[in-house]
Amino acid sequence: MYKSLIRPILFKFDPEEVHHFTFSALKNFGFLAKLFLPKPIEDKRLEREVFGLKFKNPVGLAAGFDKDAKLFNELSDLGFGFIEIGTLTPKPQAGNDKKRLFRLKEDSAIINRMGFNNGGVDEAIERLKKNKNVLIGGNIGKNKVTPNEEAVNDYKICFEKLFPYVDYFVVNVSSPNTPNLRELQDKKPLTELLSTLQNLNLKKQKQKPILLKIAPDLTDEQLLDIIDIIKETQIAGVIATNTTLSRENLISENKTETGGLSGKPLTKRSTEVIRFLSEKSGKAFPIIGVGGIHTAQDAIEKLDAGASLVQLYTGFIYEGPELINEINREILNRG
Ligand SMILES: Cc1cc2nc3c(=O)[nH]c(=O)nc-3n(C[C@H](O)[C@H](O)[C@H](O)COP(=O)(O)O)c2cc1C
Repeated sequence: MYKSLIRPILFKFDPEEVHHFTFSALKNFGFLAKLFLPKPIEDKRLEREVFGLKFKNPVGLAAGFDKDAKLFNELSDLGFGFIEIGTLTPKPQAGNDKKRLFRLKEDSAIINRMGFNNGGVDEAIERLKKNKNVLIGGNIGKNKVTPNEEAVNDYKICFEKLFPYVDYFVVNVSSPNTPNLRELQDKKPLTELLSTLQNLNLKKQKQKPILLKIAPDLTDEQLLDIIDIIKETQIAGVIATNTTLSRENLISENKTETGGLSGKPLTKRSTEVIRFLSEKSGKAFPIIGVGGIHTAQDAIEKLDAGASLVQLYTGFIYEGPELINEINREILNRG
């Protein structure tokens, strides 16, 4: 129903406006979605225990859709096994100028240069207090005005404030839309950042898993560095991958827009990164696989490549909420 009826209407409008529209529709009329959509599949065999947390199923919503933690209860009702909020920064910030979100319809893709638009960590916390038992990942970043030399402090602030309200953390150093952010993926600054957060974590009575979200554009050498850093800092795992700067084989008019590319053109590369990390590390840590999952088969390939869980963003926009059930059904079929 989504692809034949709803999507053709939504895709006639500006993507960011559609985002806000569907958001308030789900917020106010989410109960209708429950009437019209197939019921989420619930099955014990879909449950997963990863980095000490229990997931009701392995299909989550990726960061960036519910940046401000406004809709996690309703999104969970659609069937997602977990919701990642953020990227949140210590202070609110407007993000880049509009227009900053582009559909590449012929490529089943999106280019975005949102630039961490968010209401800041304090506002999100007020909403997280209304959590009806949804498993939440807190994806954290730095404000645009914070220079890289002081970035650790921004991550520390977000970590400390969010700690009581999220189940796991994601350190985002891989967005292409905050100037120089990706430089924090280099060995020295990344080791410093992750060990600082892990030290804060170790001081808590009960630790929470910290994951690192990486770009798909890292070289093999950089990926090997990442494996070393995860082992050295003892953080819980990796999310692979964020959006790409690559523009290979695109045909849509919007292909020249600046920003991060997501969706179908990313499927193969993000799976490659998952496989590389899993094989070269000897499965030393769990991986959440994300990037271009538009079919159940795409998700299965990521799980086969070494991912323990998967996340959707662009596939959710293009294929609709039915995709969650399709993936879970296929996982059950495969036994
Ligand atoms: C509009 C948009 C905004 C995003 N914002 C964030 C963000 O704030 N933080 C983050 O870690 N990833 C963000 N992402 C990246 C997604 O979480 C995901 O890693 C990426 O899009 C690849 O998955 P996909 O092909 O299923 O979309 C964003 C993606 C899109 C399309």
